[in-house]
Amino acid sequence: MTIVAIDGPAGAGKSSAALRLAERLGYTLIDTGALYRAVALAAREQGVSWEDGEALGALASSLELRFGPVTGGRPPLLIDGVDRSDDIRAPEISQGASQVSAHPPVRAALLEVQRRMGRQGDVVLEGRDIGTVVFPDADVKVFLTASVEARARRRYDELKGRDGDADLDEVRREMETRDQRDSTRAVAPLKPADDAVRLDSSGLDLDGVLAKLEALVRERLPRPGAR
Ligand code: DC
Repeated sequence: MTIVAIDGPAGAGKSSAALRLAERLGYTLIDTGALYRAVALAAREQGVSWEDGEALGALASSLELRFGPVTGGRPPLLIDGVDRSDDIRAPEISQGASQVSAHPPVRAALLEVQRRMGRQGDVVLEGRDIGTVVFPDADVKVFLTASVEARARRRYDELKGRDGDADLDEVRREMETRDQRDSTRAVAPLKPADDAVRLDSSGLDLDGVLAKLEALVRERLPRPGAR
């Protein structure tokens, strides 16, 4: 069982790079941000406030969260058996996920879920606190980051491609708000593990990031398992 942890702020290119890396290695991808998004979405739909830590913790424990079989691309996120992959990506839910993720009861509930998923085999986990909290003994830890300009531009291009109606300044402001909240929360804040390798993706495209990630994994794993 090999665990690769990829942490970093929004827009650093984690999701695309983690997905491609997992495909290359033949590992399972676990997108932990999707789990926080699921809690924010379910809370919104069930009338639970994003401020109410206790109620959110209970809600998080009550949801059945799992990733469905891959049919090309990212594994779909199922909440109580229903594919909600698109709904959890709404910009409003991004802010909600950041808010709900600051509450200790939510983190405690999802910690168990992530550890259970991670123990299933060879995995690439992407998130904010995988190398520091969820799997401090991960075999490979990478902290993937980039300048706020580069990250806002990437997220903007992504949103524009989807609904054609995005504003770069607004995307940047939302990203800064989310970074600030994610990095300053009391429990498991976004920060690199002491033994993580830091990788700045600002001047790199996806292939460039992937090449560096793969090299890191191969350097560190006795049995790279690449296909
Ligand atoms: O990676 P993402 O944008 O889908 O994550 C959504 C939010 O979830 C993010 O703003 C912070 C939170 N999160 C977290 O606190 N810990 C994780 N391991 C993953 C995400």
